[in-house]
Amino acid sequence: MSFGKSAGEGVQLKGKKKVVSIVGARPQFIKCAQLWRLLREHFEEVLVHTGQHYDDAMSRVFFEELEIPEPAYNLEVGSGSHGFQTGEMLKRIEQVLIDESPALSIVYGDTNSTLAGALASSKMGIDVAHVEAGLRSYEKKMPEEINRCLTDHVSALLFCPTETAVQNLHKEGIWSGVHFTGDVMLETLGERIVEAEKRSEILSSLSLSKKGYFLLTVHRAENTDDPERVLKILNMAGKLGRPVVFPVHPRTRKVISGISFSASPQLRMIDPVSYLDMLVLEKNAAVVLTDSGGVQKEAYFFEVPVVTLRNRTEWVETLEGGWNTLCDVDEEEIVDTVRRGLPGTPRRPELFGVGSATGRIVKIIGEFLG
Ligand code: UD1
Ligand code: UDP
Repeated sequence: MSFGKSAGEGVQLKGKKKVVSIVGARPQFIKCAQLWRLLREHFEEVLVHTGQHYDDAMSRVFFEELEIPEPAYNLEVGSGSHGFQTGEMLKRIEQVLIDESPALSIVYGDTNSTLAGALASSKMGIDVAHVEAGLRSYEKKMPEEINRCLTDHVSALLFCPTETAVQNLHKEGIWSGVHFTGDVMLETLGERIVEAEKRSEILSSLSLSKKGYFLLTVHRAENTDDPERVLKILNMAGKLGRPVVFPVHPRTRKVISGISFSASPQLRMIDPVSYLDMLVLEKNAAVVLTDSGGVQKEAYFFEVPVVTLRNRTEWVETLEGGWNTLCDVDEEEIVDTVRRGLPGTPRRPELFGVGSATGRIVKIIGEFLG
């Protein structure tokens, strides 16, 4: 069997080796959306959903819209404390690995599902491939930093979206199996944006004009664990002088429901939106305000300025040329940055590859599995 043209010429596999892909949270469905297809051309892929995200708007909608096949297993772990959630995942993933006996496990990003997949596999002697390896915030209190560091250190294959990620791994003494592949989310976005613009009715349904609104997302623990910070963000959003569309993550919804505040009519709090609607909202926003990793990156891909509601970012490339500005939740800083609008540089540099990450990943996995 030979690989597709994007995967390179002349690589042959004798038979289909089994690989297990482990996902569980919203951004992971998007990260695997292009990869599963190419994986299935060359391997027997078993898709495992841990059940970390389970609301229709956080899970099912992505499987349907992105035509991701029904997972072979849904472990239905659900919500809980870090130890409980990760522990339940470990037990249940281990059983899947015993039953399936794959040659490789593939994990994505930096959630508890990522860490559980990597740990369960490595402890059974199953090689791990990490998609979106090498990201660092150097903030050990951040749950995602723990997940990504530990996952990288037990992975045999480390697929890096940027050269910075490669350097981060080298600094920690990880050289073997490290590959710069470019970013898988850039590829998904490139594949879907035309369809999104044709199909999505989100702008008209919210009566928004292109570049006439701001887009806001908030879900990081460092913001949502402190209701004072959430309140600051809500108050700030009412002072930006244009409508602010805010698809609210369920974690944030819970916090907001416990806060007493009077919402500005400019603030449009809505349920989480589908991926295609989100792409359209990002592309047409005047500025994106967010603490999300994926949303920072997608806004950068669309050349939309980003205000990051944190004091650091893993995606340091997006800071170059002023495309992304770290404002924490400092109202004055945020309002100033939003008023400044577009950065001086005419185009942002292409630092996330050229949208061919999945082909490179599948080729490297093929060579690794022989
Ligand atoms: C998780 C990831 C984070 C990622 C985010 C993407 C960890 C530690 N965090 O954060 O890295 O950026 O997903 O969105 O893995 N909830 C629901 N319905 C759902 C899912 C969650 O109501 O479908 C609520 C529950 O109250 C839950 C809370 O959201 O306790 C947090 O969910 P959880 O999966 O633990 O973390 P996220 O904040 O979603
Ligand atoms: N996203 C979405 N609908 C929303 C909010 C986000 O489809 O209402 C998508 C977004 O386009 C990106 C991904 O979800 O592809 C980012 O996920 P999230 O912000 O939950 O997590 P993070 O990237 O911070 O881990």
